[in-house]
This record gives sequence, C-alpha cells and structure tokens, in this order.
Amino acid sequence: MLSRITLDTERTIGAIEPNLFGGFLEHMGRAIYGGIYEPGSPLADERGLRRDVLDALRELQPPVIRYPGGNFLSGYHWLDGVGPRAQRPRRRELAWQSVETNQFGANEFIAFCRALGTQPMLGVNLGTGTIEEAAALVEYCNAPTGTHYADLRAAHGHPEPHGVRYWCLGNEMDGPWQIGHLEMDEYARKAREAAKLMRWQDPAIQLIVCGSSNSQMPTYPEWDRVALETCWELVDYLSMHYYAGNRDGDTASYLALAAQFEAHVDTLAGTLRYVQAKRRSKHRVYLAWDEWNVWYKARTMQGGWTEAPHLIEEIYNLEDALVVAQWLSVFLRRCNVLKIACLAQLVNIIAPILTTPSGLLRQTIFYPLQLFRRYASGMALDALVRAPSYETAQFGAMPLLDVSASYNAETRTSAVFIVNRSQRETLPIEVNWQSADRSGAPASIETVIQLAGHDPKAANIFDQPDTIRPVRLDPLP
Ligand code: AHR
Repeated sequence: MLSRITLDTERTIGAIEPNLFGGFLEHMGRAIYGGIYEPGSPLADERGLRRDVLDALRELQPPVIRYPGGNFLSGYHWLDGVGPRAQRPRRRELAWQSVETNQFGANEFIAFCRALGTQPMLGVNLGTGTIEEAAALVEYCNAPTGTHYADLRAAHGHPEPHGVRYWCLGNEMDGPWQIGHLEMDEYARKAREAAKLMRWQDPAIQLIVCGSSNSQMPTYPEWDRVALETCWELVDYLSMHYYAGNRDGDTASYLALAAQFEAHVDTLAGTLRYVQAKRRSKHRVYLAWDEWNVWYKARTMQGGWTEAPHLIEEIYNLEDALVVAQWLSVFLRRCNVLKIACLAQLVNIIAPILTTPSGLLRQTIFYPLQLFRRYASGMALDALVRAPSYETAQFGAMPLLDVSASYNAETRTSAVFIVNRSQRETLPIEVNWQSADRSGAPASIETVIQLAGHDPKAANIFDQPDTIRPVRLDPLP
C-alpha cells in the first residue's frame, strides 16, 4: 500500500519555539567534571571548558540549558559554588553519593552558556533550601550592584548582572527519592512563596513549577493540579519529566511510544485548561518537558563517595534514536502547548555525547537531535497521514509511520520528519502539498537525509563511531 502524507502550509498547529531543543546538565557523574569541564586537559580552553565538547554541542545548538540538577539540586547550596575556588567546600553529595568539589558553580555555568550561545535555566533548591536562599540567588544573578548579593557577584568578578530569564522551582519534589521530598500541598505552598520572593527580586523572570516526575506516579496528575491551582498567576510553565525504555524487549511497542508521549502532554494540557477556567484567569501557563530521554539500561546511580564517578552512561542504539526522533515529532505536533523541552542530559550522563580524556563519541541519538534542530522552524504543520497499521502489545493497532512537518514563511522552507516503525519493510510514501494557492508547496527538494540500519540494537562505539549516522540521499527529481 502506498502511504500518503498530505500537507497544507495554512493548516498549522502553532509556532515552534526554539526552546523545544534545549538540554540539561546536572552535577552528577561525569556530566560537568570530565564532561564539559576538565581543567588541565589538552582539550580544554583557559577556562577549563572542553573545546571538543563545546564544538559538538554547537552542532546541537541547544537554545537553553537547565542546571544544576536534577536530584542534585535538592541538596545544593549555591553559595558553595561561587567565589574563590580554593575556599569552596568539598561536600558529600547525597543524591548520587558522590564527592562534590564545587570547583564549577553558577558563574562558571553562565560562562559556559555564553561560550555556547545558549541561555541558562537555573534551578533553586526547594528540598533543603529556603525561599530566602532562592530569592538571594535571583538577586546574585540579576540585580544591579548596590546590595549584598549583587555586590558579592561583582566581588566575584561579574559587575554586570547575568540576566538569567528561566528559573525552575525545585526538582521532582513529588518523588520520595528526592532530598527533602514534600507532600503536594506543602510543595505548592513553598513554590508559591519562593516564586513570590523571586519575582519581587526580578519581575522579568519566567518560572517553571514542578509537575509530576512521570506519568506513572500515584499522585499524577493531581499533584500537577494542586501545584497549578496554588501558583497559577505566579508561574509560566509546568514541568513534566519522562524517561522511556524498551524494558520488555518489545520493539514493536517501543517504536510506538509517541502515542504515550502525546497522551502525557494531552492530560497536562487538559489540567492547564481546567485550572485556568477554575481560576477565571486570563494568564496562560505552558508546558516545559524539562527532562526527557531514553534511559533504562545503565542503572549505576551511586558514586561510592568518589569525584566524578561513571554513572548512568547509557549506550544508545538505533531503536533508541528512532524513539528520540518520534519524541521530537511529538514536540512539533503539540507545540501549541509545549514551549520548552530539555534533553536529559547532554554529556556522559544519559547523553548524546560521551567523552574520554582524549576525545568524544556522538551516540545514535545525537543525530535526530541535530536534524530537528537544524531543519524544524517556523510553524508546525498538521500533517494528514495515511499509512498501513501494525499490531503492538501496548497500544493496539498503530500506523507504521510517525510524521511531523514544519514551514518557515520567512525562509520559505519546509521540513518533513518521518519515522518508519516497521522492522522489516521499506514503505513507499507520497508527499502531497495541498495549499490552496500552492504558495507553500516546495519548488524543489533541497535534501533528503536518512538515519537507518538493519539492526535495531546497533550502536556507535569508540572503535566504530559511524555505525549509525545520517546519510544524505540524492534529492528527488
Ligand atoms: O537525569 C537524571 C535524574 O533523573 C535527575 O537527577 C532527576 O531529576 C531524574 O529523576
């Protein structure tokens, strides 16, 4: 059967925010130390930033990066990580049972972001931290000099405010594993008060309130409703997290996970609408999927009280890359409500980039991230897809094709992103342009790029780094 994708540049879903292609870096394992930061390495610049890692990250161009955690955040006191390095404390870090040297902190992270041309998204500790400490960090980062914390920043070598726009109100506070975990009412009230003080410090900031840690939590989506009802006018985004995996070795269902990702967004979009209506509010709150990725194979999470231990260094294969590609398509198909997404994480920890002291590897999932970032822009199009279906244990009948598309009226370019879920068949596809005046129909095809292989479990490794990589096919006539 011939599959058909029908597109109309006037049938749009919404604007694609570049922030949908953001990332996340946590003080965990080798994400920071030995990942982006390795002073003394021949690969590092004068600030200790790994030049090869910066170059690889530039290929992904994350417009925003969330930092410093993650579970780490809930035991972290930001003052430990600023000021003269020799005076910074070495601490036992409880979330990952590692030693934190604090040689890298907020100012180093902001310098890293500037080097990359990305915006920082900072989290405040609502586990062991206080609302006063959260507001003080906003003053430290964003206030003009003349008061205590802004002057401290200047004394640390940064007279100009950093102007940090995005702020997370804690991390996964619904999870019993979280340092200082709170019940939903407790979290909602603490987040509201922190938000109030942080906004008084800087009314221009954008705030992200913690939603549920994943859609299987017993308190999902009640937690989200309570957090939203309590904080509505003070926040701009509700966070969502999810890690996917092929735990049962059921590749057919795994390759259909887009259905679950969409249901997750739709449930929370409904919750947002409900709370907005209940509060009789004109204020809009959007979704920030600020931790997402495949993660199920690497489970070493305790560092044995060492510095920069090897933790959750997941190896990614072809089927993982195809799930990541579909996830990015879901971001486009739901971009009317989803405005931020941060891949968790960027380097070494469940990441598209793995480092050694002498080099780095681009894992399979690097490539869908790179391609979507490069080609998806403007408006997401509502594609009409006709394709044969196949049976999955988890979702019943699913179409063999997963599709998203974009159209940028300024550059007059389109992109169509297609995942073939079949493990056996190639699928002939016709792409049909339907715009009434045909103004949006492409005059030519610039490029066709394919990421494919014969073995769903094929991975890139240091000895064979190019097993799975995109291949440019001849443009069609
Ligand atoms: O990204 C790894 C961990 O996963 C984060 O620290 C936490 O927020 C999540 O559970």
